[in-house]
Amino acid sequence: MTVSNIFQLGKVEQLDYFNAIEFHGLLGFEFDTLCDKLRSDIGSGLSGMSAFELIRAYENAVAKSVGDSTDIPQVAKNILFNTLANLINIRALQCSKKQNHLNEDASIRTWNLENELTSKVVEFVHDLERQGKVKQNGLSVFDYELKKDSKLLEWVQNVYRPTIRAHVDEGMMPVAHVRVVNASRADNFWMPRYEHEYANFHWDSTPYSFPLIVYLDEVGERDGPFSYVDSSDKLSQDYVLRAMHMAVHNFSMLKDGTVDKKLISKLPRVLRQGDRVGFFTGAGPFEEMNVKKVLGSRGTTVLFDGFHLVHDGGFPQQGGSRCSLFVNFRFPKQRLYKHAANLAERWMRFRS
Ligand SMILES: [Fe+2]
Repeated sequence: MTVSNIFQLGKVEQLDYFNAIEFHGLLGFEFDTLCDKLRSDIGSGLSGMSAFELIRAYENAVAKSVGDSTDIPQVAKNILFNTLANLINIRALQCSKKQNHLNEDASIRTWNLENELTSKVVEFVHDLERQGKVKQNGLSVFDYELKKDSKLLEWVQNVYRPTIRAHVDEGMMPVAHVRVVNASRADNFWMPRYEHEYANFHWDSTPYSFPLIVYLDEVGERDGPFSYVDSSDKLSQDYVLRAMHMAVHNFSMLKDGTVDKKLISKLPRVLRQGDRVGFFTGAGPFEEMNVKKVLGSRGTTVLFDGFHLVHDGGFPQQGGSRCSLFVNFRFPKQRLYKHAANLAERWMRFRS
């Protein structure tokens, strides 16, 4: 199997934090062979197939490879069922794309919003702080009603929306929330995610992920700035593998955002990877590429393709804090595909 994207080639067995873990792998079934079969039957033709053709091709390949094998653990079966749903969702994105990348010239888009545009949302946060609703240590999230903020909404509709519409052909509704992260103590809930400096770098698990982050106060080195691996959005991805790894992610993430190492160790080699790419690859690929941080004052705004760009929202170090507005779009057509994908997954589970 040849994979060119260095972020899809995790080698967890070689990582320090997997030292004490014993790897079992799975016997009786060749996942590599299945992966190659899926790649040749589906792989690059993903956007040229109807959803039904995709489901049929997937079921055929899996049925042929799995056969009557009875020694596949349930978790591996679940991963196989969920992979189908992920492929359907990725296909939806591929079909609606009008251009290859969100931005051909760079990996992110940035703007500097004038204070006038963020005055209402900043006031909103100050009110919450006055009412004691913002945690002094940890993450506080508040929904924000954009429709009541006419100036910011106008900017979103006139600048952010057309940027995405140039990339994907979809209907869209903006939704927003404010995230305030304060790190007054060293023992924060996000610490387990940082086995090493890059362990929380990830791909978003939703194909339609084009978040806009607006800093609402100064963000420096210690404040958990948004960080990303420059040009990682331009690396070609093996979507069959990605769909499998998305499934591994779905079944191996624990409540605190860490990955269940014992579960990973039981999976076959090809499945020892997930959307938390930094965790699975270790620091190696990050040291080969250019990791950039977005530092800036209030109004600094970033837009990126979360499904393709390796990035980290960042958590502050002790004494740091970050207050930002996140704006996303809902894509109604994509939601329909998501339902269809869930149904296909359930159908496959039912038939097995
Ligand atoms: Fe993300």
